[in-house]
Amino acid sequence: MIKSEDISKILDAARIEDVVGVFVPLKKRGSNFIGLCPFHDEKTPSFNVNPARGIFKCFGCGEGGDSVAFLMKHQHYTYPEALRWLAERYHIHIEETEVTAEEKQAQSEKDRLFHVNEFAQKYFQDLLFNDEEGKSIGLSYFEERCLSRETIRKWGLGYCKDSWDDFCNAAKKEGYTEEELVKAGVAIRNENTGSIYDRFRARVTFPIFNIGGRVLGFSARILSSDKSKAKYVNSPESIIYSKSNVLFGLHLAKDRIIKEDLCYLVEGNMDAVMLHQSGVFNVVATSGTALTTQQINLIKRYTRNVTVLYDGDSAGIKATFKAVNLFLEQGLNVRTVLFPDGEDPDSFARKRTSDEFKAFLVEQSQNFIIYKTNFLKQQAADDPVKKAQMLQDIVYTISLVPDLLERSTYLQQCSSILEFDEATLSNALKKQLHQNALNKAKQETAKSDIVVEKSIIDVPIPTQKQIIQGDNNSDYEQEKGVIKLLLAHGERYTRQEVYDESGSLEYQEVLVSLFIVCDIVNDGIKFNDKVFAKIFKLFKESICDREELPYMNDFIANEDTEIKNLTAEILVGDRELSPLWIEKNIPVASLEDDEVFDKYVIETLLRFKLQKINATIRDIKEQLKEIKDPQESSILLYEYKKITDRRNFISKKLNQVCMN
Ligand code: UTP
Ligand code: MN
Repeated sequence: MIKSEDISKILDAARIEDVVGVFVPLKKRGSNFIGLCPFHDEKTPSFNVNPARGIFKCFGCGEGGDSVAFLMKHQHYTYPEALRWLAERYHIHIEETEVTAEEKQAQSEKDRLFHVNEFAQKYFQDLLFNDEEGKSIGLSYFEERCLSRETIRKWGLGYCKDSWDDFCNAAKKEGYTEEELVKAGVAIRNENTGSIYDRFRARVTFPIFNIGGRVLGFSARILSSDKSKAKYVNSPESIIYSKSNVLFGLHLAKDRIIKEDLCYLVEGNMDAVMLHQSGVFNVVATSGTALTTQQINLIKRYTRNVTVLYDGDSAGIKATFKAVNLFLEQGLNVRTVLFPDGEDPDSFARKRTSDEFKAFLVEQSQNFIIYKTNFLKQQAADDPVKKAQMLQDIVYTISLVPDLLERSTYLQQCSSILEFDEATLSNALKKQLHQNALNKAKQETAKSDIVVEKSIIDVPIPTQKQIIQGDNNSDYEQEKGVIKLLLAHGERYTRQEVYDESGSLEYQEVLVSLFIVCDIVNDGIKFNDKVFAKIFKLFKESICDREELPYMNDFIANEDTEIKNLTAEILVGDRELSPLWIEKNIPVASLEDDEVFDKYVIETLLRFKLQKINATIRDIKEQLKEIKDPQESSILLYEYKKITDRRNFISKKLNQVCMN
């Protein structure tokens, strides 16, 4: 038991951004920190840490709480364990009374499995260094493979004796039950005799850690070259270990991955350990399994750049091709390094100094798509069937690259490598992109349980005029209204409904430019007018990328004369409000009143959005008329339903604003 005065001391000392920061890369945003939520899959950060209140909150999945809650949720600690972790981090001495039998019983099942594994890890390592058999067999094996003591300690490597139940007996003596040992996967129960035995016997052990450094399970390598037995025996899936969700070595690599902004990916545990010893710390291993989306997302928390170091044998390359498509889909940049025949990263690294090896990785790394194109070209040679397959394959890979500019660069490069007409490839790429979009929409439609009837498109689209009397603003006028707000009032505060830290809507004072730019960017709305689009982009870059307000001078004295002139026109000559407000006889001066101003801001924004959404709706309607394929049209109908719902939501809000 931890005394209550110690608990208060711990809670006072804990700094939420510091605790969360151990596990999640955080970026400062105003007085808060943001990052990618560790509790659900996401591409843009909605995970918020508020130092002033000592809490975290994810607007995406709703998880939230203080430092203790974070540790319990993320590390699966019990309450006292989370407190002990914090006490250690903040050097707070705690006096604990003896843990009672009931308390032990009350520890969560997950927690007990972690303990089993952590005990096993220490036990196996102790054998390696202090036991005769461990030293002569286990340690000498690692020495043969050129691993230093330091490396062995760092990675927590160990040895499990050549005995049926040496480990099981030791664990039982420590108070772990047979059931726990089996559940954690360190022991196997013999169905016939009912007794349990050591899963990893006569093998060296590689613990598998989670990001926080807790032991999830083991991968254990045989010492002989007996081909009849599996080279590695791994912990089975359990309530704490799911292999598709883990990358071997990530706990040691993550800080360096962030620092180098690059992650090396290898297949074998041994490769990861050896690279690390050679001074390449930003390395993780897939442990021989096919890469999963969850694993890619783990990497994506730290970097967008991956270099794949698989063996050059044919099976290895095929596996890599698959892995790379997945990476590209997730928007990562992928490079690869080819090792000479018969070498893998481990053997190659061992023969070189750390500097030589690091230089080799940098010099030899090549863009993956280019590598693949060259490789397939060689394979296909003059076989026309293979050649056609190859083109399809490469076009598909390029189609997965999210960035348009990058896609067209690859297209050029590949067409020149293959000596193939660029326009033809470009057409094939267009078709493939269309197909991808269709597939994606299909998946989404399948996921949603909304049945959309074709009859919904017969409902006429109300014009803005019908929603709000008297408005016949053109698209240009709407866009101008928004730009005028940004230029003339961007630095003024307005009181608007925004999401607060707990995720609920709340009235807050916000900067006009921040409020407007974030909202429009979130909705993915584009400006049609070329100059307005340029001005908006400058605002967006400044606010979203550099997190600061742009200088008005940048617009008034912009080297682009179109921007300069328009800014002058808006700021100096043309100071009237939107046509509707003129109609309503509302003078410019009335904007000095905060309440009038707030209304003006939200009304301008909502009208602009409504205009844009209605245009999209009309587009979809037009498309629906032409499409004959029932599957394709059902997808569009689903899109149509989503966007009309959004339109109804916005027009309702607009009506509310205009009414009072
Ligand atoms: P490798 O055979 O390349 O293993 O398999 P390695 O780690 O480089 O081992 P050495 O160099 O021969 O000592 C790659 C990975 O595939 C998984 C392991 O995680 C291994 O690290 N694997 C391999 C298994 O899980 N089971 C196996 O039987 C073989
Ligand atoms: Mn190997």
